[in-house]
Amino acid sequence: MAAPDRLLLDEPSQGLAPDLQDHRPHPPEWRPTILLVEQGVVEALELDGWRWPARTRRCWAIRGGSAYTWGVRDTRPDPSPRGRAMRLSGKVAIITGGAHGMGESEAMIFAREGATVVVADVDEAAGRQVAAKIGADGGKARFTRLDVTSETEWQEAIRSTTGAYGRLDILVNNAGVSGSQDPDTLSTASWDSIMSINAKGVFLGMKHAVPAMRQAGGGAIVNISSISGFVGQDRLHMAYNASKGAVRIMSKSAAVQFARDGIRVNSVHPGFMPPMRTSKTSADPAWRKPFLETVPMRREGRVEEVAYAVLFLASDEASYITGTEVVVDGGFLAV
Ligand SMILES: NC(=O)c1ccc[n+]([C@@H]2O[C@H](COP(=O)([O-])OP(=O)(O)OC[C@H]3O[C@@H](n4cnc5c(N)ncnc54)[C@H](O)[C@@H]3O)[C@@H](O)[C@H]2O)c1
Repeated sequence: MAAPDRLLLDEPSQGLAPDLQDHRPHPPEWRPTILLVEQGVVEALELDGWRWPARTRRCWAIRGGSAYTWGVRDTRPDPSPRGRAMRLSGKVAIITGGAHGMGESEAMIFAREGATVVVADVDEAAGRQVAAKIGADGGKARFTRLDVTSETEWQEAIRSTTGAYGRLDILVNNAGVSGSQDPDTLSTASWDSIMSINAKGVFLGMKHAVPAMRQAGGGAIVNISSISGFVGQDRLHMAYNASKGAVRIMSKSAAVQFARDGIRVNSVHPGFMPPMRTSKTSADPAWRKPFLETVPMRREGRVEEVAYAVLFLASDEASYITGTEVVVDGGFLAV
């Protein structure tokens, strides 16, 4: 069997087996066996009796109650999406709140799938870094400063995007703030601020993106809501639920109104995710633990698990899907 020169097995992986609580570096003697090599390229490997395609990025196994992980880097000619048909090829996408968290993940994944990405955020330094990271990765991106509550900034963001790239195909209304940043969960100022960013910001985004999408002959809008758009939660400002409920139903309204323009509008509802930058109570382990125990999958989601749902809805693969909601919550709402 040829030497596995195109497959690099990382040293004890930094990645985690996401479903398992106990992660240990593997014992050095316990290495995957290369199963199949074709034309010098590893096609499959075996680990602890399990067979994995070589493209598997991360594999893990359990022994004696412990989870062992291996990182597998595939160095075949261009394993990245650039080597195959890309799912957003030729599309221009604006992602609000693209400087951090789920928005950052969406920006990176969209760019890898061929989109030209406009990272729109109030955090200029971090937003520019994300755009630079995409550029360094071979993708196309630019940063634009956008406070989603400002109508004039929306107008400028759309104008500069269509000015630079000639079109707008996708808008992800992802920017948002937490319902737990203010311990006073009946603060009227917090009501105004949360509703303004999380709900009005989404309305303004759709209002100003739609004319540009009409000019492009259609488009896709994905609005990020939450499980909080379906159910209430303790110790969060009710404005968070109100804002996410508003996003959920205004997405349906927009879907109905703009279908004739070839514009699809859907909402995505993440569940228990890493805390937002503005989370306070909901970032507290004492709040998170009992909540996590009610999630059937018994873990929080990873940002890319939401980003891939957004990618699907933004892509032409979802061409007959509009006015609906995709819940990404490890089963939380199914109980
Ligand atoms: N983290 C969670 O548990 C969770 C769960 C469900 C839904 N969500 C929703 O997902 C979206 C992303 O959340 P996240 O966890 O990535 O949060 P995050 O705090 O990591 O990122 C939010 C981003 O929005 C930006 N932002 C905030 N106010 C803005 C404004 N006025 N204009 C433009 N940008 C602004 C921030 O700078 C930041 O880059 C939000 O809409 C959030 O409500 C989050």
